[in-house]
Amino acid sequence: MSAPLQTRRLDAKRPNDIDDAVRLLRAGRLVAVPTETVYGLAADASNAEAVRAIFVAKQRPSNHPLIVHLSGSDQLPRWARDIPDTARQLAEAFWPGPLTLLLHKADTVPPEVTGGRPTIGLRVPAHPVLLRILDTLGGGLAAPSANPYKRLSPTTADQVMTGLGGRIDAVLDGGPCAVGLESTIVDLTGSVPRILRAGPVTRHQLEGVLGTTVEFPEQHDAAVPGNVAVHYQPRTPLYLVDGEELHERLQRLPAGARIALAHRSQYLPASAGVLHALRLPADKPGFARALYDALHTLDATGANAIWLERPPADEDWRDVHDRLARAASVDPGEVDPGEWA
Ligand code: TXA
Ligand code: MG
Repeated sequence: MSAPLQTRRLDAKRPNDIDDAVRLLRAGRLVAVPTETVYGLAADASNAEAVRAIFVAKQRPSNHPLIVHLSGSDQLPRWARDIPDTARQLAEAFWPGPLTLLLHKADTVPPEVTGGRPTIGLRVPAHPVLLRILDTLGGGLAAPSANPYKRLSPTTADQVMTGLGGRIDAVLDGGPCAVGLESTIVDLTGSVPRILRAGPVTRHQLEGVLGTTVEFPEQHDAAVPGNVAVHYQPRTPLYLVDGEELHERLQRLPAGARIALAHRSQYLPASAGVLHALRLPADKPGFARALYDALHTLDATGANAIWLERPPADEDWRDVHDRLARAASVDPGEVDPGEWA
């Protein structure tokens, strides 16, 4: 590995710092940037060497494709070909916003960006600072979530620093991310639109705009490298606990238990084995915004397990369930959380 870098911390409230971020990106360097979903680790998508550096910094396998971020849908033809009407309809309805469209890539896109695949993921992010940077650059930014491979995605600049400090040139602090979960990915290269990753834009919303059925495979298929089952993990084992059982289980904690707890709405009396407890919002957008931050916080408490009150089994919460299933240590149905206290 090369010598550690001095990672600069830039502040999006200072115009000079934004200029510095642009200069670094133009020079082929890596800058973590805020988006509305999670922080992204950005590099000039037309610069193969810069893109390769992303994989090194994240320690991500080089066949895992990256999403390219654009300033507007007018940029689509530079990055994709055979663009279907469905892409234009969805772009019109949801961009800027947390939706990634999978299309056939243009020949000029370096193969490093797409992990050697013929398709490319594209999105216009809804973050004013990043849009300004994209506008100034006049190009695309390849940016995966700014976390080391298999770790939790960051929703603050501090979390980026903790995970990637010393491995990237700079992080631009644009405050906490407003949405907090990664974008919905919809594949438009087949005969039927297909969701490859659940996200803030729901199937219902996509179908409403397209007026057709959108497929949503239960299993994230192996055709999407990066959709590996174990992903987005805190270091502390995470267990999901049903709300109705939570109170009772907390009363039965064995001596010496050190639980970090995230509960939703109910009042919980103090319990000796709970090292740290925090309450997550009951509504879906609020819960999603707070989730990764809560997991980062609870992961740093030194607890020997994180317990999280399972959210409602509702279609609107599908992205949350998807991330939790990957972050949880075992299939939560299989283990009595009490055994892991
Ligand atoms: O909200 C987001 O999408 C964030 C922000 C930074 O924009 N980005 C993000 O990127 O989550 P990443 O790299 O952590 O996840 C992108 C996912 C991966 O699972 C990758 O395999 C999939 O998108 N993907 C990207 N391009 C693809 C392609 N051409 N074919 C199949 N899957 C693709
Ligand atoms: Mg990621």
